[in-house]
Amino acid sequence: RTTPITLQTVVHVVYNRDEENISDAQIESQLAVLNRDFRARNEDRTQVPDVWTSLVADPLIEFELIETTRTHTDERSFGADDSVKRVVKPHPGRLNVWVCTLAGGLLGYAQFPGGPAKTDGVVVLNRAFGTTGTAAAPFDGGRTTVHEVGHWLGLRHIWGDRNDCTGDDFVADTPRAQQANTGRPTFPHITCDNGPHGDMFMNYMDYVDDAAMFMFTAGQVARMNATLEGPRKP
Ligand code: ARG
Ligand code: ZN
Ligand code: CA
Repeated sequence: RTTPITLQTVVHVVYNRDEENISDAQIESQLAVLNRDFRARNEDRTQVPDVWTSLVADPLIEFELIETTRTHTDERSFGADDSVKRVVKPHPGRLNVWVCTLAGGLLGYAQFPGGPAKTDGVVVLNRAFGTTGTAAAPFDGGRTTVHEVGHWLGLRHIWGDRNDCTGDDFVADTPRAQQANTGRPTFPHITCDNGPHGDMFMNYMDYVDDAAMFMFTAGQVARMNATLEGPRKP
């Protein structure tokens, strides 16, 4: 693909306390991050180590906010059990993003392609959504939603969700890595005999702080495109 594809996006704000009913400005700030990062227009991509700059790829995906819903709930918080999706149901065929309070330090979760329509979409913690309003450091860069939409388009964590160097993300140009990285690591961080360059911890599909993640690779973009031509063909 050489022209951008537009994903029509619906944001469902589900709130108990009034401050969880985040502003339109906070929602717009998240859309701006999606439209920047999924076009590789983020300025922090200049921090990608030289050895990997040739792998940085533009997914050519844009996001159009077509509707915002706002729904009060008596639940003070939600888990990763899809229960928030029963409060407001998804619009079929769209990218549905629920924004709510999540329990236990969870920043977000996503449904991979091929799952049931009634739970399809991504869920993001309100305090990790967008870059203004209630967004709180170090997850106030809008990157949780970038990461979750990556999952929704078929991407796995770059360490492959096993902590023994046998995990695989099914993407050839991301190095094998032992486990999730957190915080703001310094390059290189070598695990799993992946020297000299080590883990690609600055990838959106690792677990580092928002300010420390700034790239998708060409291989990841190919995988997202396969999803958009297959199970998520608009
Ligand atoms: N823990 C979440 C997940 O696995 C999201 C992590 C997002 N990381 C971030 N720096 N915003 O889906
Ligand atoms: Zn994840
Ligand atoms: Ca890989």
